[in-house]
Amino acid sequence: MINTKQLQQLMAGKKPTVGLILGSGLGMIADTIDTPLVINYADIEGFPQTTVAGHSGKMIVGKIGKTEVLCLQGRFHLYEGHRPQTIAEVIAALKILGIKQLIITNAAGSLNPAFAPGSLMMISDHINFSGQNPLIGKNNDLIGPRFPDMSNAYNRDLRRHMNQIAERLQIDLPEGIYLMVLGPNFETAAEVRAFRTLGADAVGMSTVPEVIAAVHAGIDVLALSAITNYGTGLQSTPLSHQETITNAARAADNLTALITTYIKEL
Ligand code: HPA
Repeated sequence: MINTKQLQQLMAGKKPTVGLILGSGLGMIADTIDTPLVINYADIEGFPQTTVAGHSGKMIVGKIGKTEVLCLQGRFHLYEGHRPQTIAEVIAALKILGIKQLIITNAAGSLNPAFAPGSLMMISDHINFSGQNPLIGKNNDLIGPRFPDMSNAYNRDLRRHMNQIAERLQIDLPEGIYLMVLGPNFETAAEVRAFRTLGADAVGMSTVPEVIAAVHAGIDVLALSAITNYGTGLQSTPLSHQETITNAARAADNLTALITTYIKEL
């Protein structure tokens, strides 16, 4: 378990209310944090370590506008071998630190011909196709209920606020359904067709465990995907992690503008 007492000490009196979890190649929002206090995951007792290129493994605490934020730059994917419960422990630590709202970004493949690489999608709901769940095991009643309701997992009020900002900044931000696979391989073409048939607009290897754990903990969630590629079979070239990183960078400027404006207007 994460030692939250030690974490509170490391945070030196800072009291963030908004959490940020940043996806592959999408870490630059962290550069907009004023007077940042940077804590390496390695220095936090009980905190897991990241293993993916493009995920640096730091907690950054500071201000965006007047809002104190806590940013996790580098996340924990199940395909790295992390137990799903580890993600619930990280989210529980955020709750104990006072986080009320969690903003999540990820890189995702498009299943919807209208969602092109380099564009953004706001997640309105998800399909958990990972076969995993962060809440497996004995329930921690101090954090949340055994059977959490998921009917407003991607909080409608937060989405409305973000939609207004996207309109004002003239950034396209369609809503869509995110389907999570375990990975680490990209999907087969048959899987991509199947997922589209199931009603998903984008596919990725993260986010769903964090959202389930956050909803359980009573933390409001807003989640945005940077579309980095068309799913297998929808584009003629093979997929690579490099393509993911390159196209995430194309989407990142808009993503940064949306999220920093959103947080400043909280
Ligand atoms: N599939 C799964 N995860 C992803 C993809 C994809 O096509 N692109 C970025 N992350």
